[in-house]
Amino acid sequence: MDLDILKSTAMAMVASGKGILAIDESHGTCTKRFEALGVECNEDSRRAYRSLLVGAQGIEDYVSAYILFDETLRQETEEGIAFTKVLADKGIIPGIKVDKGAKDLALHTGEKVTEGLDGLRERLLEYFELGARFAKWRAVIAIDRNENLPSRACIVANAHALARYAALCQEANLVPIVEPEILLDGDHSIEHCYEVSVEVWNVLFDQLREQGVELQATILKTSMILSGKSASQRADALQVSQMTLKGLKEAVPDELAAVVFLSGGQSPKESTLHLDLMNKAGALPWPLSFSYGRSIQGPALEAWAKNPQAISEAQEKLLHRAKMNALATLGKYDPSIDD
Ligand code: 13P
Repeated sequence: MDLDILKSTAMAMVASGKGILAIDESHGTCTKRFEALGVECNEDSRRAYRSLLVGAQGIEDYVSAYILFDETLRQETEEGIAFTKVLADKGIIPGIKVDKGAKDLALHTGEKVTEGLDGLRERLLEYFELGARFAKWRAVIAIDRNENLPSRACIVANAHALARYAALCQEANLVPIVEPEILLDGDHSIEHCYEVSVEVWNVLFDQLREQGVELQATILKTSMILSGKSASQRADALQVSQMTLKGLKEAVPDELAAVVFLSGGQSPKESTLHLDLMNKAGALPWPLSFSYGRSIQGPALEAWAKNPQAISEAQEKLLHRAKMNALATLGKYDPSIDD
């Protein structure tokens, strides 16, 4: 492990005024998103769509790193240029999703544990050779008040796997993004989400420390603290930003390299506004940025699905969302110029 290399990669991933774009959907997730818009999902359609995302000119002004899926890390544009080269030529750092997905947790109905540790050391060596400089592992935690979820077993199992993954990444000089996503589904209150989020973060940082993971070279990718999607009274944007900041300050160590958010079902504008309000609230111990998938890609994907030939129209939509979020990392987003 070379801590200096890891720290400088982590710093570059959240350079001032920039964030991370997630385009690492597995084939299953990509199929759902494409088919919902009437597009067949196959290797060629994924290449065409991701060429548009990777090739958008000027995105490097707003985005410092892309999270890719295994196929994309090895794929070339229609002109035969490796996606990793297109990104590296723009100064964008390529990274790779390395988990093998969330599987049912034994003896815990309704809960998942993320798998993928077997053979990970060898896969990470190959990913580094292919140009990746960071990795991502996503754990999912469901809240269900009636069933008393999440269980402690689910939180600990996922945090332990995240910590073992992060240690393997650092050994291979890849910056680990540790992503415990607390799902938006449910009718829980924002206060309940706060309690669960703080517990998950506390257990995660205990596990990371126990495995000897260097926090200065680790990035937390997290959900925001939100009311459940079907809660009768959902907290407003100011409350979301205040509760999320309060929870993060309580549980996240100052030495962590950065905190970035997933969008997790928030609308594009909501996710931008929430990030902006948090960055307007004053100085924080860590950079606070975005690592959105759906909320940055959404409008571009819809435009492309409607007309796959209108590449520049879709790219303009992508650039617009990237720019709005870049402004939000600086607390300079103005919703009145966002349409
Ligand atoms: P969102 O689509 O929720 O922003 O997700 C990003 C991501 O990388 C989830 O793992």
